[in-house]
Amino acid sequence: MASNQDYHRAKADFDETKAGVKGLLDSGVLKIPKMFIHPPETLRQTTSRETHNVNLQVPVIDLKGVESGNRAKTVAEIKEASESWGIFQVVNHGIPASVLEEMIEVVQRFHEQPKEVKMKWYSREHEQQVKYYSNGDLYVSKAVNWRDSLSCHYADGTLDPDALPQVCRVAIKNYMKRIIDLNDTLAKLLSEALGLDTGYLANINCMRTATLVCHYYPSCPEPDLTLGATKHSDPSYLTILLQDSIGGLQVLHRNQWVDVQPVKEALIINIGDLMQLITNDKFKSVEHRVLSAPIGPRISAACFFYPSTANSCKPYGPIKELVSEKGGPIYRETDHKEYMAYYRAKGLDGDSCLPSFML
Ligand code: OGA
Ligand code: NI
Repeated sequence: MASNQDYHRAKADFDETKAGVKGLLDSGVLKIPKMFIHPPETLRQTTSRETHNVNLQVPVIDLKGVESGNRAKTVAEIKEASESWGIFQVVNHGIPASVLEEMIEVVQRFHEQPKEVKMKWYSREHEQQVKYYSNGDLYVSKAVNWRDSLSCHYADGTLDPDALPQVCRVAIKNYMKRIIDLNDTLAKLLSEALGLDTGYLANINCMRTATLVCHYYPSCPEPDLTLGATKHSDPSYLTILLQDSIGGLQVLHRNQWVDVQPVKEALIINIGDLMQLITNDKFKSVEHRVLSAPIGPRISAACFFYPSTANSCKPYGPIKELVSEKGGPIYRETDHKEYMAYYRAKGLDGDSCLPSFML
């Protein structure tokens, strides 16, 4: 079995092209390069589309009526889904279908621009607000994923639209305005679902900064040997995800992989590691992965929410109102900077970071 070191040269060469996996595919490869091949033990439990459970479905929650008579019922549904699944889809969230469709369209357009135009954005600098790259953990994880990404950082929820690539500027601006509003609504609903004051999560500023990561999963000539995204949970408080109609996202639920079926005009909401930490395991951070497919591209956009810039080094620990229910805190306090440093150093290796923060 080859070591990380063996692949280092191949990875550096791939990185150097600044053309991502899309570039590889365009060059006409029929066999995927070795560094994309995941180890058999991961693949056995991952790629067989047949062995997953088709009878289970991620809850779909209707947000219509949150402001009127149905609020208590919706909050109960969110509580149940966050506790047992760590993920749910929302419909009637108020974001026009056109805003979602245009978002998918421009993400595809960005990634399908001529290489020469796109490569100007290629970077691995953590500090760069807007950047395009393939595999954020390229040199850390051993096996590489079959996807490219464009990430846009909204410090305290803002980013000057002029910093965005022109092909996607207007659509991303419109999308993010709506997503940040939806995040505010969800912060209230999740607070209530935890039995806390409506403004609790807003007041502790744990969901104020956003990073939008727009993924492009090219079709894959050997989909059973690789993955679009290795099993992981998100290092966020909350993630709002838009996916197109191709499918391939799966969540691990009671030890079984369950498809997150594309639902028209829906958004996927998933609990992140840090929400699990501050809720003292009441809400679950869901493990998920993306399968590769012979068809594509598949487009998605994941928006990760975490603390305001002023609070990026502020320690957050289990909320005391929730600890009393459980007989003591399960986790130590951590700040987002520390958690991210740990997450990045580990790479997407299939294991959760959370156990390392247990008391
Ligand atoms: C992520 C992620 C899933 C998807 O970006 O963390 O899990 O469907 N994305 O792209
Ligand atoms: Ni994820």
